[in-house]
Amino acid sequence: MTHTSIKEALDWRYATKRYDATKKISEKDWEVLKDSLQLAPSSYGIQPWKFLVIENPALREKLKTVSWNQTQVTDASHYVVFLYKEEMDEAYIQKYIDRIAEVRSIPPASLDGYKSMMIENLAKAPDEKIRVWSQRQAYIAMGFLLETAAMLKIDATPMEGFDPAAYDEILGLQGTGWKSVATVALGYRHPEDSFQNLKKVRFAEDSIIQYVK
Ligand SMILES: Cc1cc2nc3c(=O)[nH]c(=O)nc-3n(C[C@H](O)[C@H](O)[C@H](O)COP(=O)(O)O)c2cc1C
Repeated sequence: MTHTSIKEALDWRYATKRYDATKKISEKDWEVLKDSLQLAPSSYGIQPWKFLVIENPALREKLKTVSWNQTQVTDASHYVVFLYKEEMDEAYIQKYIDRIAEVRSIPPASLDGYKSMMIENLAKAPDEKIRVWSQRQAYIAMGFLLETAAMLKIDATPMEGFDPAAYDEILGLQGTGWKSVATVALGYRHPEDSFQNLKKVRFAEDSIIQYVK
């Protein structure tokens, strides 16, 4: 991509309010969108997230009723619910260490220092701190997905307008250690979605980007 085409894609994207329910994202495009989730960075690389792709139409209808009846939930081609991990225990840290060792073909024991550091900073941290931290990581993945969608000229909507406790219940998340925090609808804008014609509202660049010399 060129500088111009990246800028164009960023201007082109908008939080889509109304989707064309007849248009579906191709397999090929979905592959790349999935990659953007899997390849997103996270603190320590520990990936305290999961992404539920809700395919069942009846389930989407149900979720819509606890999402301020926002039509994106049912009409978008894909609907992704972002989950964060509530607690960071030694078992999860070990699982991550084992994965590094497997992928990089190194002995797990060579990662003992890294493991101790994560246990100290994460497993021993107060639960509330971990919850906030985990949610932040999930939002990084969300940003990657939104940006990738824009580059592919696929419409997207980041969404927090839903009842997370109701989602957790509908999706059977109680007792799993995972909770919903945000969602992203993806697909193709309806030609009559008037929001696509609105000018973007952003504070002036010099008021938000400051060079410290
Ligand atoms: C975390 C987050 C949650 C949002 N929740 C909703 C939502 O529930 N429904 C919706 O229509 N838009 C939602 N938005 C879209 C914002 O209103 C929109 O991104 C913002 O007004 C800027 O406009 P633009 O994205 O069209 O440039 C959300 C955006 C973010 C980043």
